[in-house]
Amino acid sequence: MADAEALHRALVDGLISRRCITDPRVEAAFRAVPRHLFLPSLAPEEAYRNVAIPTKLVNGEAVSSSSQPEIMATMLEQLGLEPGHRVLEIGAGTGYNAALMAHLVGSAGEVTTIDLDEDLVDGARAHLASAGFDRVRVELGDGALGCPAAAPFDRIILTVGAWDISPAWRRQLGRNGRLVLPLAVAGTQKSIAFAHAGDGLASLSVRECLFMPLRGAFAASPPRVALGDGPGLHLYVSDPAGVDPVAAHTLVKGAPADHSTGVRATGSEVYAGLVPWTALRESEFCWLEATGAEADAGAVPYLYGVAGKYRSAAGVFEGTSAGFFMRPPSDAYPSEPEPEPKPFELYVRGFGDGALDDRLRQHARAWDAAGRPTSSGLRIRALPIDATYAPNAGEHVVEKRWTRLVLDWPRNARDKVQ
Ligand SMILES: C[S@@+](CC[C@H](N)C(=O)[O-])C[C@H]1O[C@@H](n2cnc3c(N)ncnc32)[C@H](O)[C@@H]1O
Repeated sequence: MADAEALHRALVDGLISRRCITDPRVEAAFRAVPRHLFLPSLAPEEAYRNVAIPTKLVNGEAVSSSSQPEIMATMLEQLGLEPGHRVLEIGAGTGYNAALMAHLVGSAGEVTTIDLDEDLVDGARAHLASAGFDRVRVELGDGALGCPAAAPFDRIILTVGAWDISPAWRRQLGRNGRLVLPLAVAGTQKSIAFAHAGDGLASLSVRECLFMPLRGAFAASPPRVALGDGPGLHLYVSDPAGVDPVAAHTLVKGAPADHSTGVRATGSEVYAGLVPWTALRESEFCWLEATGAEADAGAVPYLYGVAGKYRSAAGVFEGTSAGFFMRPPSDAYPSEPEPEPKPFELYVRGFGDGALDDRLRQHARAWDAAGRPTSSGLRIRALPIDATYAPNAGEHVVEKRWTRLVLDWPRNARDKVQ
């Protein structure tokens, strides 16, 4: 056990030094709850790595995991739990996050956590009991409906990615409540903390995250088009039905034209800043992604990737032309994830009639000139879809099934270069 204790301490120390934990109460919860009790089949060396650990696969895809401790800490800070709070979690998984929350709300508070699968619910109950948190209520069900029997909640958190905001979550959130969820927005997924504002919700904070998608009644089919005969090349677009896969494959296998944007940035600045900047301005924004053996085949320009695993680039696809942001054509494709993000000269690789090459370069320069706003400075309002709204200058509107999102970068946030 001495080993597990030292590994546990080192994990929490690392989260503090990377400033994922800044709140002493969140630190106390992480110090008090041992992660290895929620991953009983793993050696402590594995359980205390700061990575997401898949715990259930269906057809080779992870449908449950213990999330990366770093993003769990970030989201718990966004959630702002207080002793005595009643909280609902959608995505019980191993039960680890529910235990951290139970520590934060104390014995006067109440934690309810839901998962879709009986085996996961049974596992979460057993892990919580072994860690001394059997007061957490673990429910079997579809979290899209919330948990009406235990509502209203002071806090609701999703630890699984949503495409839209279920009306049930808004209804079951108490008057001064806070909803934290990973939401598909502006070309990526963001962890957004929302509070009630008028008929809708308004963001309090926006952070980067990457969660597996929600299953069940509220699941959205992945917006992707398979290119070519192999299993590993996909184009992610907002309207997959509008893409001819053969023509798209021919286009991205065609002769490329590379142009420098004149902007230098790190991969994380591009991901958190230029990607949402472009996605909010281009209705045909897309990601091109190759996985497995296809990653090394060279069809995907290298913006992000690890050799033999994946390679992806963000850009725009318009049928007869496509353009992608990428690193300099001469940049080596790494065999390990970048430990320290280093700035590179950002390029655009264009295919087809070249219509997009200039437009993408202009987006990069405009984003740079605006002070390189990132998603943490985004203001996001979520209005019921049936409420009318006339956007003001500088606002971007994204329509979902139940929600109309209104996004902008307020001037003071733009000035804050991340
Ligand atoms: C990343 S895991 C959650 C990790 C968990 N919070 C922990 O601490 O281990 C995501 C979980 O969401 C669950 N899930 C997916 N769709 C769901 C739904 N509609 N309702 C409830 N749970 C769902 C999955 O079964 C999976 O266990």
